[in-house]
Order: sequence, then C-alpha cells, then structure tokens
Amino acid sequence: MPIEWKSELEIGVEEIDQQHKKLFEVANNLLQACEEEKEKGEMSQRVEEKLENLFYFLVDYTVTHFADEEELQLKYNYPHYEEHKRSHQQLIDQINQLKLDFFNADQIDTELVEQITEQIREWLTGHIGKIDRNLAEYIQSNG
Ligand SMILES: [Fe+2]
Repeated sequence: MPIEWKSELEIGVEEIDQQHKKLFEVANNLLQACEEEKEKGEMSQRVEEKLENLFYFLVDYTVTHFADEEELQLKYNYPHYEEHKRSHQQLIDQINQLKLDFFNADQIDTELVEQITEQIREWLTGHIGKIDRNLAEYIQSNG
C-alpha cells in the first residue's frame, strides 16, 4: 500500500511542498518495487541491484531536499536551525539503517515490506507534520 500524500501535510511554502510531494513519490516507487519483488520471492542479485538503486535515489533526494530546507532556514535566521538539522541527520541515519536491515534480510516477505513501509511513513509524516510545520509558521510570520 502506498504512502498517501494528504493536503494537511502541505506547509504553505511552495518549494518545500513540491519537494515533499516528490519525496513521497520516490518513496512509493521504492515501496512498490519491494511489493513486486515480494511476489516473486527471493532476493537475487538483480533484484538487489534494482532495489539498491531505488534506495540510493531516495537517500540522495532526501539529502538534497534537507540541504535546501536548511539553506532556507539560514536565509530566514531560523532560531531552531541546529535542532532541525539534527532531526534531518537522524532521519538520514535511520534510512541508511533501514537500507542495511533490508539487504541483510535473506528474503523479501510481507513482514519486511510492511516494516519498511511503516518506518518510511512514520518518518515522512512525522517530520513534515511537526518539525517542518513549525518552520513554515516561522517563515510565514517573518517573511
Ligand atoms: Fe525538515
């Protein structure tokens, strides 16, 4: 099941909202590929390569997006910059750990795919819904 974008996740800063939507799309591409490979059963070298690329793309896009967000915070002298940046670092560590766990599993089963879906969902909606919302409120009242 894909992770659904909800309008309440919109924070009202156009550039960031676009990137968040894209992040959902990239995450869902990965999750969909996991679902498809799960149907086929085992983790072959080819499957591993395919999923590794999708994981890599998700991490890469996330890193770029976080960097853009942090730049915006510096531009607006956001007082919670350090805290926000720490949260970003934790999320990157978390997704890298998820990636390791995923490739250490010897087969892709429902449990594994559900686990990764839940973690990514939690990660995206939790951070965007709280921490990014605070940032957007600050930008809107100081812009
Ligand atoms: Fe953020």
